[in-house]
Amino acid sequence: MAASGRFDISVHFIQLLVCCAWLVTNSQLAQSAPIKITFDGCIPGFANNKTQYCCPPPYKGEIVDFCPKRNMSKPLRVRKALQCLSGHELKVYTEKLDKAYTILRNLPDDDPRSLNQQKRLHCSYGTGGFVQQGTDNITIDIHFSWLFFPWHRYFIYFHERIIQHVLDDPEFSLHFWNWDNGFTVHKPKGARSGCYKRGDLLPPIYNITGMGQYQNRSSRTKLPGLPVDLGIVPEERDNPPTRPAEVVKPRNLATMHASMVTVGNTTRGFMGRIYRYGDYQVLDPLTGAGGLEVMGHASIHWWVGNTMGVVETSAGDPLFYAHHSNIDRLWNNWHKVPGGERVDYSDPDFLEAEFLFYDETATIRRVKVKDALDMEEFGYKFQKANDISWIDYVPTVNSTSNSTINSTDSYKPQVKQVNAAARKCHK
Ligand SMILES: *[C@@H]1O[C@H](CO)[C@@H](O)[C@H](O)[C@H]1NC(C)=O
Ligand SMILES: *[C@@H]1O[C@H](CO)[C@@H](O)[C@H](O)[C@H]1NC(C)=O
Ligand SMILES: *[C@@H]1O[C@H](CO)[C@@H](O)[C@H](O)[C@H]1NC(C)=O
Ligand SMILES: *[C@@H]1O[C@H](CO)[C@@H](O)[C@H](O)[C@H]1NC(C)=O
Ligand SMILES: *[C@@H]1O[C@H](CO)[C@@H](O)[C@H](O)[C@H]1NC(C)=O
Ligand SMILES: *[C@@H]1O[C@H](CO)[C@@H](O)[C@H](O)[C@H]1NC(C)=O
Ligand SMILES: *[C@@H]1O[C@H](CO)[C@@H](O)[C@H](O)[C@H]1NC(C)=O
Ligand SMILES: *[C@@H]1O[C@H](CO)[C@@H](O)[C@H](O)[C@H]1NC(C)=O
Ligand SMILES: *[C@@H]1O[C@H](CO)[C@@H](O)[C@H](O)[C@H]1NC(C)=O
Repeated sequence: MAASGRFDISVHFIQLLVCCAWLVTNSQLAQSAPIKITFDGCIPGFANNKTQYCCPPPYKGEIVDFCPKRNMSKPLRVRKALQCLSGHELKVYTEKLDKAYTILRNLPDDDPRSLNQQKRLHCSYGTGGFVQQGTDNITIDIHFSWLFFPWHRYFIYFHERIIQHVLDDPEFSLHFWNWDNGFTVHKPKGARSGCYKRGDLLPPIYNITGMGQYQNRSSRTKLPGLPVDLGIVPEERDNPPTRPAEVVKPRNLATMHASMVTVGNTTRGFMGRIYRYGDYQVLDPLTGAGGLEVMGHASIHWWVGNTMGVVETSAGDPLFYAHHSNIDRLWNNWHKVPGGERVDYSDPDFLEAEFLFYDETATIRRVKVKDALDMEEFGYKFQKANDISWIDYVPTVNSTSNSTINSTDSYKPQVKQVNAAARKCHK
């Protein structure tokens, strides 16, 4: 006992030294620069105990800066809640998804717009496949930090543009899977429009065998009427139990309430940790991710399972994009939830962080985080949905892991608004 006790202490002491030496070096790099990558700096990634080979195809052209710019003479496109589409609109949208994903699946494997290459790009960004520009070997992950929301906003936005392009339909909008809403209610008094129907079931139009958007998913998604389970924890990810609706429904509400309202009542608690040039790749979701990412978002991936269940293939399931359209919507709506400090980071190392994506013409575009914060500049908005169900929920059960997330707010917002100069698109 005594020996092992001493051993423990010395191990902890060494860990402390390593930790603090790291902190010192790290804090010198900190303050200093935002994270950037190049496609040339792509190496095999690592995830789920396997080396992941998913680098983008070689690229010869020029990288072109991209800046979202709303066309003021057009109304905003509306991304709608999938469960509220009906009749002719539902039929047309189903056919559009079929056509688009059939095309994307059949593009040559090395076409960066193919579904295969979009999947691989998410894999590279999400498994340490890119080395930070300016370092020899410090890899990144766009999960588990403040990069999560802006990176995924851009990723699905370019996906939407690629679909618009292959359908020759500039109004195509990536309708969202409203999995956070488990209750159908009457339209609230005073609401002029919106979708108030439950959306916590597998969207049927993604489950039609033979259509482009169909994907072989887990056995859970074969059970009609079974709500999604936002309470799946990491230990269950490979084989989540099928729990009855009466267990799942109140916990889904508690989990959404924690992600968006309580754990999510600070910038750190919602958006995830600060992550600058020189910081090592974050491997542990619980030390890096914000509440929504580590709770509801991850559980949906595991509940759908198969392709969607692991980072290296998840973006190969068309449902990924409807799922992340909802994540994008929840980020937007988080700012409007009452109480707390609901402002995006305004740290220059956040605002100036850069990513590369392929656009609809297979051109590489360089984007900055600061240009992703004003959603309307992208020309779309979301249909109103029933968020009150979890905002007003008084938890009677524990959410999955509201105590395991480190939501200690090491970040105090300096300004309520990112100032206009910082917002201006780079040339
Ligand atoms: C990871 O892979 C190695 C080698 O393939 C294997 O020995 C090890 O048991 C695996 N670990 C886990 C946790 O699966
Ligand atoms: C803006 O929208 C209008 C109306 O749809 C269109 O005629 C015009 O070409 C658009 N401008 C640009 C720059 O796309
Ligand atoms: C990363 O680079 C540093 C400095 O060049 C080197 O000391 C270290 O061994 C490298 N680590 C790995 C895992 O390659
Ligand atoms: C679907 O996936 C399951 C589990 O991964 C597998 O057992 C099954 O054969 C697959 N079905 C088809 C039609 O590919
Ligand atoms: C998905 O489609 C399969 C095959 O048609 C069906 O067995 C299953 O019940 C469907 N799942 C849901 C949730 O409707
Ligand atoms: C966030 O919520 C917690 C309770 O979950 C509370 O203790 C804390 O004061 C809140 N923080 C802010 C900034 O409102
Ligand atoms: C909720 O979590 C607390 C603290 O871990 C625990 O004591 C309590 O039993 C849990 N309640 C339920 C209903 O699981
Ligand atoms: C989770 O949060 C709810 C509501 O804030 C609280 O009642 C519950 O005790 C918390 N659970 C744990 C395990 O801390
Ligand atoms: C939580 O994060 C804060 C600030 O980053 C850190 O000081 C603290 O040690 C962390 N707590 C745990 C339990 O990881």
